[in-house]
Amino acid sequence: MLTILKHATDEALADIRNEMRVRQTTKFILLFSMGSQFDHLIVRQLATLGIYCVVADPSSVTADDVKKAAPAGIIVSGGPASVYNEPPPFDGAIFDLGIPTFGICLGFQMLAQRVGASVTPQTKREFGVHTFRAAGNDPLFDGVARETQVLESHGDAVNADASFDILGTTENAPVAAGRHKHLWGVQFHPEVTDSLEGMKMFENFCVKICGITDRFPAHSVAEQKIAALKKQVAGKKVLIALSGGSDSSVVAYLLKAALSQENPRGDTSRMTGIYIRGIDRPDDEAYVQKYFGTQDWIEVKICDATDRFLEVLRGKLTMPEKRLAMRGVYKNVLETEIEKMGADFIAQGTLYTDLVESGHGHDTGARRAQIKLHHNTDLGFSVPELSPLETEVKDSARSIGRDIGVPEDLLIRHPFPGPGLVVRIEGEVNAETLAIARAADGIYVEELRAAGLYPSVWQAGATLTRSEHSVSKGDDAGTGHVLALWAVWSVNGFTARFAELPYDFLARVSRRITNEIRAVGAVVYRISDKPPATIEWG
Ligand code: XMP
Repeated sequence: MLTILKHATDEALADIRNEMRVRQTTKFILLFSMGSQFDHLIVRQLATLGIYCVVADPSSVTADDVKKAAPAGIIVSGGPASVYNEPPPFDGAIFDLGIPTFGICLGFQMLAQRVGASVTPQTKREFGVHTFRAAGNDPLFDGVARETQVLESHGDAVNADASFDILGTTENAPVAAGRHKHLWGVQFHPEVTDSLEGMKMFENFCVKICGITDRFPAHSVAEQKIAALKKQVAGKKVLIALSGGSDSSVVAYLLKAALSQENPRGDTSRMTGIYIRGIDRPDDEAYVQKYFGTQDWIEVKICDATDRFLEVLRGKLTMPEKRLAMRGVYKNVLETEIEKMGADFIAQGTLYTDLVESGHGHDTGARRAQIKLHHNTDLGFSVPELSPLETEVKDSARSIGRDIGVPEDLLIRHPFPGPGLVVRIEGEVNAETLAIARAADGIYVEELRAAGLYPSVWQAGATLTRSEHSVSKGDDAGTGHVLALWAVWSVNGFTARFAELPYDFLARVSRRITNEIRAVGAVVYRISDKPPATIEWG
């Protein structure tokens, strides 16, 4: 994981200087990570711009520490705290140092409060994409269109008063961007791809405002990961959990490359891929067989855990308890195979998104919300874990895959949660509800492919709800389940917008589902964005 600055000790400062030497730069940005789900995207955006970013712990780094570290600029991120009810841990004197500072959402509210502006809870919360209208000619918005799209997600807002120059507005935020001397702030999130010109704003802040001109050349991420894995797995055996989706496939190919020198003629005893059957989509197993089953560098084993999943899920009704129950089986199956193989490592396709939603991320003192406990985090295996994608998000994991020759057909598969259909069934998961959810997924995905819509949709799913709908099928009458279809457009899963699928397509899928699956009485389509809704139902 990323290294975090906790105190400006001689050792920590020497580390930063060393890293700057390697990156051929003399300047860096200090990012105070306040616990936002999006913090890591700021680090990634700056990395793309060739700017070195050190993450700082707001609960321990003081103004004295910052003076010693002497960053060219400071970014204070968003977070779940509120300057009102839950003032975040942060030394306010940092804002008085005269170092150019960029506050994002909560970060903006914190610096605004420091200079005497009032921050109040809004009657109308702003969630989602809005039009930002720039005012004046501040360097932060050089080269940015006067009207541009931004993503806002906040309940408190900075009020217009004399302490801030207003640099821009949105419909519900009279000070969507403001400046007070060396302090800039925005109410929106420039780090997410929904904010179309966010990258330009970061570039303006770092280059034009902070004067960071010696940017380091970007390295090949895949090469770095393979080199690191090579050191770890030399002479060792690895068990990898394969799902048939893109992330675990990318990890398998990284490991293949890491083992290739030691294993030039192919020796499947070094890497075993295990596929767990039971709560999966209709075609996952076929993908694993097609792309890995015939390879000479990996042995594939299929483990049917259907009965074990059904047993632990019996009587469980809420999503958190079902998620927890499913993790137990997932871990036990893998532990048994680790033992059988005598594996030295267990590899998984865990992404940064999985960690951050489970309440991890940058290890700082700021509070971080747990959105949902993902299946692949904190499992405490008996052997060390290899998670080479845990600093990546979906789109960057896919580009690593492209660099190392992972088949495109695997890379473009829609994401699918590790807990599988469990999170797409409300109420009890049993043989019957599983069969309904699986059949609905099969029809939906088949139709998306047939209509040519599959590649343009980031993820689609069908959720079996607990709602009942009255039905009249010919002479027959009674009730049937309500099945909810959803589909989103996204880049990395941090944010998403509901996909505007054509009505005739939805009508076709609905007719097929109600005709072919007897237990379904009605089909609805979900039209919520993330935030505030998450992508999966549970
Ligand atoms: P949400 O639903 O939180 O999900 O917006 C973001 C992305 O993560 C997937 N997801 C999971 N992936 N294990 C996973 O590997 C999990 O427990 C899990 N839960 C959600 C979800 O499908 C979406 O792509």
